Amino acid sequence: MAGSDDKWPGDRRRRERRTGAERRSGADRRNEAAWKPVALDAAAEGGFDDAALVAAAVDAREHARARFSGFKVGAALETDAGLVITGCNVENATYGLTMCAERVALYKALSEGRDVFTRIAVVADTGDPTPPCGSCRQLLWEYCGDIEVVLANLDGVKRRLRLSELLPLPFDARLLE
Ligand code: THU
Repeated sequence: MAGSDDKWPGDRRRRERRTGAERRSGADRRNEAAWKPVALDAAAEGGFDDAALVAAAVDAREHARARFSGFKVGAALETDAGLVITGCNVENATYGLTMCAERVALYKALSEGRDVFTRIAVVADTGDPTPPCGSCRQLLWEYCGDIEVVLANLDGVKRRLRLSELLPLPFDARLLE
């Protein structure tokens, strides 16, 4: 049942999770901490514990099937319980059926029954941070809500944002109700 506080995709799941037994657990504290307003770019000063998540995305990137573009991407999606589920981009000869690293991670997580998420790290070997494409922004929004997005290259974290900054004025299920 939707509560009056529910505003974004994922709010109901997060609210229900917070009212459960995990409320006092370390996992839930991690979740609440992730939802505090953050100083964006503070990661560059070492203010956030992004290292493990980014390292998982760096490792996943090594598995990228990117023979057509040569552009390897790794992603690591964190659940509210602290579990990290990774993905890499998977290209194919039709090009159009390519799947981005972010969506591979998301679909893996959903197919394993995970449905409450806090952060995603995206890693590519670019000077400027590589943000999720439009399709990934939409899917992340609908299934993860306003999570933190950590953008890194092989040298480390370059930027942190909220997904709502990458996808303002989203279309989602609220409009279909
Ligand atoms: N790609 C991703 O996996 N994630 C992004 O955020 C941007 C693009 C992939 C898709 C394709 O395999 C390659 O990068 C070039 O677009």
